[in-house]
Amino acid sequence: MDLDLVVKNGVIVIASEVLPHGLQIGVKDGKVACIGINLPTSTNTQVVDAEGAYITPGGVDSHVHLAQKNSPTGDGWEAGSRSAIAGGTTTIIAFASQEREDASLYPVLEDYHAKSKDQSYCDYGFHFILTNPTDEILRNELPVLAEKEGITSVKLYMTYEAMKLNDRQVLNILFACKTLGMTTMIHAESHDMIALIIEGLEKNKNTEPYFHAVARARIAEDEASYRAISLAELADAPMLIVHMSSEIAVQHVRDAQTRLLPIHAETCPHYLFLLSEKIKGESHDHFSGAKHVCSPPLRHDPKDLDGLWQSIANGTFTTFSSDHAPSKYDAPGGKRLGLVDGIPRFSKIPNGLPGVETRMPLLFSQTPACQSPEKARLSLPRFVQLTATNPAKLYGLDGKKGSIAPGYDADFVVWHPGSTGACTISQSILHHDMDYTPFEGMQIENWPRYTILRGQVIWDQSNGIVGKMQYGRYLKRGMGQVLHGKTGNLPQGWREDERRYWL
Ligand code: URP
Ligand code: ZN
Ligand code: ZN
Ligand code: ZN
Repeated sequence: MDLDLVVKNGVIVIASEVLPHGLQIGVKDGKVACIGINLPTSTNTQVVDAEGAYITPGGVDSHVHLAQKNSPTGDGWEAGSRSAIAGGTTTIIAFASQEREDASLYPVLEDYHAKSKDQSYCDYGFHFILTNPTDEILRNELPVLAEKEGITSVKLYMTYEAMKLNDRQVLNILFACKTLGMTTMIHAESHDMIALIIEGLEKNKNTEPYFHAVARARIAEDEASYRAISLAELADAPMLIVHMSSEIAVQHVRDAQTRLLPIHAETCPHYLFLLSEKIKGESHDHFSGAKHVCSPPLRHDPKDLDGLWQSIANGTFTTFSSDHAPSKYDAPGGKRLGLVDGIPRFSKIPNGLPGVETRMPLLFSQTPACQSPEKARLSLPRFVQLTATNPAKLYGLDGKKGSIAPGYDADFVVWHPGSTGACTISQSILHHDMDYTPFEGMQIENWPRYTILRGQVIWDQSNGIVGKMQYGRYLKRGMGQVLHGKTGNLPQGWREDERRYWL
């Protein structure tokens, strides 16, 4: 067999281990054909020399917002996916977001397909955001869309006036998704607690960006996370709590996992590396703190950061995603969103940060590839689990994405050997369409030298983006696996005994 590509002289890392040095990866027709030594090459074989660097599976970023209606100055598909591949991510799962008035998901999905088709540098899929979960959608549309379109996960909100669901609605969805074998993601913050604090702050004219972090108090995340877990326990349904920022909330997840409940947790780079100090902005310009406004907010206490790092290392977190959800700081027309008649109004600042490109390099920099063993925050296999293997399994891409093994898509990141890939993060080196990065000035110990998607080099640090925008493919996903807890065999079809709870 003539191999199309051989990657040699690398050290392959997969979710279970660092493989012996010197193994080569052979690629044929976009898939890993073999892993071995002295693989045969011909004149038709492209050879990539990893020069002793680590090779990890292409990143799977399972929480990315692109071209959403409610984020008019956010990244579209071209810029968002370009930014992804420059940072080692080969698959993104973005959101097709239902608005309250949308009575059916079919036109919603059409719209998101239209915006992404031939616009992506990387492979991609969709989760639905449900804001109007009618019986018709839960009973009839979700099963059809799971089967025909491979959309096997939904995201729900417990907060934001325009999106929040009540507990009964969350339960209905949990029962429906459990019965279908779909995965439910949830944004857990107590809407009423936050609304009450915002009212008080505004009455007292405390409206600068920093008060965003005051308003979205940690207890609002702790309470809602515990409530979400309780709802999932009642429904006996698997759930992933997205973008967790609070050590206590994560402890609720840990306790649930100890009780073998199928509860998963996600965190994001900003919660591991940044504190709420950033939302105070620069001393001459408090409003610049708006660049760090996201929900849940960055936390005040370094202890939260330590707690989250522990949960990265000890397995409590299943996934590490970017939650790339930026809005431009200076919107077109010179308007700053969140400045109302020149007065800062934190409650009007769009929520969310850019981060799809910096996700992989930031975490890789904390592994023993870049740190002394005492300073490393997580192992290399754990890095692979969090950034690729687990999201692929949880969201129904196992066997195709998230690992380096025969039969999988040939998606890899080749890092720089040793310290040769060190750099400083700055807006000027990034490929998104945003006007800032919240990680400006941070030192990175290694950056992807090559990103390879289905056997094609699409990012080559010496030449930049070498992939094509039309190359990214839509992924029809299968049912996800439960990675924690005892609900290991989700029913694949309708189960009569469960229908009665929610129909
Ligand atoms: O601040 C955030 N995370 N905004 C983006 C939307 C979301 O809740 O994930
Ligand atoms: Zn959210
Ligand atoms: Zn001020
Ligand atoms: Zn998000």
